[in-house]
Amino acid sequence: MTETLPVHVWLPGETTPVQAGTFAYDAERPLGEFRYDPAYLEARAPSLAPDMPLKQGVLRLATGKAIFPLLLDAGPDSWGRHLLARRLGRDITEFEALSVCPTDGVGNLALGDLTESRMQLLTIEQFLAILAELEAGGVAGSDLEERVLDAARHGTSLGGTKPKLTLVRNQTQYLAKFPEPGDSRWLPHMESAMLRLAGECGIRACVAEVWHLPDGRAALLVERFDRTALPQGWARSAYVSAHALLRLDMVAPRVAEQLALATQGFTLSGLRRSYVALAADMAKWCGGQAVHREERRELWRRIVFNALIRNLDDHPRNHGFLCRSHAPHVWQLSPAFDLVPASAIAQAPALAMAYRYIPPAKKGRQQTGPRLIARISTEDLLAAATEHYGYEPDEACEYLRNTAATVHARWRPLMAEAGMPDEAVQRFASVFSWVADVAR
Ligand SMILES: Nc1ncnc2c1ncn2[C@@H]1O[C@H](COP(=O)(O)OP(=O)(O)OP(=O)(O)O)[C@@H](O)[C@H]1O
Ligand SMILES: [Mg+2]
Repeated sequence: MTETLPVHVWLPGETTPVQAGTFAYDAERPLGEFRYDPAYLEARAPSLAPDMPLKQGVLRLATGKAIFPLLLDAGPDSWGRHLLARRLGRDITEFEALSVCPTDGVGNLALGDLTESRMQLLTIEQFLAILAELEAGGVAGSDLEERVLDAARHGTSLGGTKPKLTLVRNQTQYLAKFPEPGDSRWLPHMESAMLRLAGECGIRACVAEVWHLPDGRAALLVERFDRTALPQGWARSAYVSAHALLRLDMVAPRVAEQLALATQGFTLSGLRRSYVALAADMAKWCGGQAVHREERRELWRRIVFNALIRNLDDHPRNHGFLCRSHAPHVWQLSPAFDLVPASAIAQAPALAMAYRYIPPAKKGRQQTGPRLIARISTEDLLAAATEHYGYEPDEACEYLRNTAATVHARWRPLMAEAGMPDEAVQRFASVFSWVADVAR
């Protein structure tokens, strides 16, 4: 059975959406078809993305989930779908979620009917009022968080696995991130310290603050980079996750392939899901060599930063691009977000995506196969800088040493400034022990 949904877009500088086209989906085959609206084509509005070119016919997808990756970015991930499923009292598919979820998803698209309740935004004051009401009614402990978010009746379409909401304060939209039961209560403090540290290391990073809730707990308020207040309403910027840009939903990695990656150091799906592929594939989105070179360099700086602070959760949905211009398309890395050091030190720490590719080589009679490197070492970080990310050897060396020195000098003061007590800061000493060596 084929179901169709209108696809709405907020064009640059506009606060009301227009219908860009229609998405028709047959889950059984599976087959997804997107068709631009004739009126949208006539208005000479821009294409939604470089991989969804303007044309009169149908753009068709029949592999993987068969839903255009850019459309999936607009819908909720596990946390948002969990709230929707609770509200509906049954499981909900990703496609169905796109049509009923709140329209606060990242980027400038929304699917389905834009009802008032889906468009509603919650202010921080309204949120606090709900919290107070529930507490007065005697709800407490670990149940409170879910009840609050549920009572807010909004949930969120922002991705990720942690409880979160979009909240408004003084003409700014925030992503509010709440620690889950089992998380350290200092997680918001630490994340805000890491975002500031990234900024001090020359990385474009999100602006965030620790938010103290009346019950004594803390959450993180991150300014949304894809919403701008205008006198007549909210404008939205287009966004694509690295997961969508790399079209990772089109092919499911096979278990055998994963195993091969671990034992032989190379698989095709590992290469596809790597920083190396991202650095290459983003060329189509950057709109020219100059921007592509600058963004590849920024990407390498983020790889280095993640390696130094041991953020090993740098998966493809934790990177994304914002659209600076639609015609021609120019997309640049969004401010960095979700920067959290690993809580325990791994024996051989590795990033979530490989950042270096070593092609097959022949040494005398011996043939070595291709290799992908995700394990963290200064040697591989420096080699990758020149091989894939547009750095000269000397400047890469200098950046790595300077950044390690900054991280080494600043991680403690920034965590303390964010409000973490000494013993909570001290717990990270072993995680940050490596940077001292690199800084030397
Ligand atoms: N400042 C921001 N403005 C707009 N969207 C954002 C911002 N920060 C994050 N996002 C979007 O929200 C999603 C969830 O945010 P984030 O990664 O911080 O949450 P998380 O639950 O910690 O994720 P994970 O599952 O990776 O642990 C991101 O994948 C991104 O799409
Ligand atoms: Mg995340």
